[in-house]
Formats: sequence, structure tokens, C-alpha cells
Amino acid sequence: MTRNVEGWAAARRVPVTLGARSYEVVVGENLLDEAGALLASLLPVKRAVVITDAIVAPLCLERLHASLAGAGIQATNVVLPAGEQTKDFPTLQGLCETLLDAGVERTTVVIALGGGVIGDIAGVAAGIVLRGLPYVQMPTTLLAQVDSSVGGKTAINTRHGKNLVGLFYQPRAVIADTAVLRTLPARQMRAGYAEVVKYGLISDAPFFDWLEEHGARVLAHQEDALRRAVVTSCRAKAAVVSRDEREQGERALLNLGHTFGHAYEAETGFGEALLHGEAVALGMVHAFALSARLGFCPQADAERVRKHLAAVGLPTTLGDVPSGPWPVDRLLAHMRHDKKVRDGRLTFVLARGIGKAFVSREVAPEAIAALLCEEGARPKAAAPSPGHETP
Ligand code: GLY
Repeated sequence: MTRNVEGWAAARRVPVTLGARSYEVVVGENLLDEAGALLASLLPVKRAVVITDAIVAPLCLERLHASLAGAGIQATNVVLPAGEQTKDFPTLQGLCETLLDAGVERTTVVIALGGGVIGDIAGVAAGIVLRGLPYVQMPTTLLAQVDSSVGGKTAINTRHGKNLVGLFYQPRAVIADTAVLRTLPARQMRAGYAEVVKYGLISDAPFFDWLEEHGARVLAHQEDALRRAVVTSCRAKAAVVSRDEREQGERALLNLGHTFGHAYEAETGFGEALLHGEAVALGMVHAFALSARLGFCPQADAERVRKHLAAVGLPTTLGDVPSGPWPVDRLLAHMRHDKKVRDGRLTFVLARGIGKAFVSREVAPEAIAALLCEEGARPKAAAPSPGHETP
């Protein structure tokens, strides 16, 4: 049964329908100030632990605490360092110990207040401490609001790669305060916007048409456009997750651009040189270019994708990335280590046109290599010079 949320006149609610684990994504302005009332209406909650990072804490914690206190919820905080390196085993261990030190009980709610990193590690900790604490996602980046906070994927990184240890563990609610995004750097906002575009490209051509016209308004934080973009994205994601929670089929479409993108992120060290959403933008351009090259998709659609992403300032060629373009054989090697490889076959999300994505395990490595070369990748890695390690 969907847990209902009351008293949110202006907010939009998107149900994620998963039987007894159903919940709502609530999207609106200044929801930070109403989180306490919302939580109290959802759960018989008296205690909360807010997990956040050192960047978000000074921007949001005080207001969240005031709101929780106003609803009679006593809250403590755990402030983690910001950045991808936080998603590791030592930090997870420390976080679990901190939650236990705080005397959490199964009725204590964990609130993940932050971007994808905080949502991911807080979700894992909530999933394993006392074999499962209730948790709520309060995403503070556009990327987290439209993608990572919805759908229950939680994970940390290991030396084998990103997001390889984790669990499907659904939150009790997602509270997306669109006003908080005003504090987000423009580059982060654009990176999140790539994931918004992704939903249009997968299955909603009219949404892509709308983004071509209104994308600049979304990025300029015009509330009507921003809210529509977030709500439409959350609806698309919620619908897919409701049908395929554990990625046995359709959910794989949400990886549009990700096989290419992960290879580019691996080359740049999963850091500031290329943000995840920027890698996804590049990857989506390349997925459409590959689809056109293989004869699935009209060339005009592939060009529209590239043109729109470039128009909003996202990278669309390998030459746009510092340290790129990279050697094609190294990119293919990263793709072979992708966790979406099945029986040795690479998985790609291709398209028959804008809004018509499909999963393919039939793409020959030669076709990918040819596409990458066309997109500016170097034909072959240079031999390492003596005394230097290869990356
Ligand atoms: N970000 C892709 C998914 O949640 O399935």
C-alpha cells in the first residue's frame, strides 16, 4: 500500500508502487522546512539520524533540524567528508559503528541528506544496521533528485570498481526540495540535467521536445520548468522501478549512455575531470551515434541529441574532456570490465530514434571501436615510455 503524505498543497507526489514497500517521491520548493511534518505523517518516528556531508551540512542542516524539532523528532547528525572517496568500506564501517554508538533502534529513521554519494552510503548503512533501519532520501543535487535517490539502489565502491557492493533497499520516502538546487554549482546542475534528458531519450520523445525548448529555463532554476523536469523524470523512473525493481529487464534501459560513460569515467579516475552526468551525456551522444551507424536510428535524431546537449554546455565529443581523447583499446578494455557484461558480451542501450531505446547484447566490438575512432579516440594506446607506469 502506498504510504500517503498529507498537507503538501503545492508539492507534487510521485508514487513508486512496490507492494508493501511502496513510497512517494515528493517534489516541491522549500520542503526542507516541512520535512518534519512529512516524516511524522509517514512513520511513528521520534528519533532520526541525519547523514550528510561537509558541503551540504552548513547549507541545509539547521533548517532540517528546526523542521524535525517542530514535529517532535529528536535528531542527531553524522557529517561525512564530501566526495566519491567517501563511498568505501572504512567509511561504511565507521558509519555503522556511529549509528550503533548513537543507540539506534529499528524505529529510528535514517535521513540521507545530500547527493548521490550520501544517498548511496547512507542507504547501505540503513540496509544493514540492525538488519534494516527505515530511511528517507533527501537529495540535494539534481542528479540525485531525478535518478539516484529513487529506486532503492545503494552501494559503495571497492578496488574492483564503482558500486560493486550494495543492496536494493527502498527508502520510505524521497523528499526533493527543488529550492536547495539553487546552491548547486552550474556544472553540477548541468551534469544532473544529462540524466533528465536521458528519460526523454529512452521513452518520452515529447519530453525531449519540451527540453529542447525549455532546458535553459530548467538550468536557470525557473521553478515551473525545474519542477516539471524533476517530476517528469521521477515519474519515468518510478514507472520503470515499479515494473522491474531488481533490473531483470526494463530497468537496464536507465543505463542509456552508461557503458560508454563508465569507460570515460574510468579513464578520468571517477573524479572532477569528468562528472558522472557529463560522462553520461557523452555516452548518450555516442549511443545514438552508434545506433545511427548501425542503421537503427535516423542520423537526424542522433544529431538532435548531440546538438541539445552541446547547447546546454555538456561535453559531446571526446576532445571536450581534459585528458581526452583516449586510446580506443583502453576504452574497450574498460567496457569489458563493466558490470553489465553478461557471458562476455557487452551490453549497450541503443535507440531506434528519440524515445525508442532498447537493450542490445549483439554489438560487435569492431563497431564500437570504429565509432570511438570516428568520435576522436586515438586508434591505439602509445607504448609506455620506460620508467612510466601505464594508468
Ligand atoms: N541509475 C539507474 C538505476 O537506478 O537503475
